[in-house]
Amino acid sequence: MSRPGPEFHVISLFPEMFSAASLCGVTGKAVERGLVGLTAHQLRDFTGGSIHPVDDSPYGGGPGMLMKPEPVFAAVEQVSSTAPPGVSVLLTPQGRRFGQEAAARLADEKRVLLFCGRYEGVDERIRPLFDEELSIGDYVLSGGELAALVIIDAVTRLVPGALGSDESTRHESFSDGRLEYPQYTRPAVFRGEAVPNVLLSGNHAEIERWRQEQSGRRTRARRPDLLGGDRSGDGGRGEEPGDD
Ligand code: 6GU
Repeated sequence: MSRPGPEFHVISLFPEMFSAASLCGVTGKAVERGLVGLTAHQLRDFTGGSIHPVDDSPYGGGPGMLMKPEPVFAAVEQVSSTAPPGVSVLLTPQGRRFGQEAAARLADEKRVLLFCGRYEGVDERIRPLFDEELSIGDYVLSGGELAALVIIDAVTRLVPGALGSDESTRHESFSDGRLEYPQYTRPAVFRGEAVPNVLLSGNHAEIERWRQEQSGRRTRARRPDLLGGDRSGDGGRGEEPGDD
């Protein structure tokens, strides 16, 4: 029987970085239960078994080093021929922005190959090897490894059985494209700050109405872009009207 989530295959110069995901938290549990697979491959193992480098200086000059095509092709072709069919992703700041929709799409794949490029870049001829290129945001990381960990976490959360039933209901409201409403736990008064009365009322219809209203207000104030434009009128400062 096949597993409910993808086999992740990461190709990296620092495969040790992925032991954290295999061991800890939601991803660690999902690996342990066999809901997803996670294998980190050392790119250096695909250089021909000797002292061949994985990088070289760019033709035409310029700073930094580039990843050579030979080991990348060898690694990607090896994984593609042994793992189930799936999607191959090049991680690069030049990629399309990763978001919840891409996470949901990758969660439906049998195999997700994540190739961790380095910032200085890759030989251009590597690009056609991949189905797509993803970035996790507009900032520069030293390598794709942290981006791969982000993607593995976000995708694994969507695999059936990866979250407890408590958490999975929360993820429902998350993926409706709005921010979460404010939440409180005991004590009812902390340093003079009281929990909103409605939450203590036991009136579930009222509570649900309050939460929806807070969720909308918070999204308008902090992330109007999620609603299709800055309609908050605060120029993106993120003030929450009436939230004082
Ligand atoms: Cl995927 N890689 C690198 N090196 N930097 C990034 C990134 C990826 N996404 C955002 N910054």
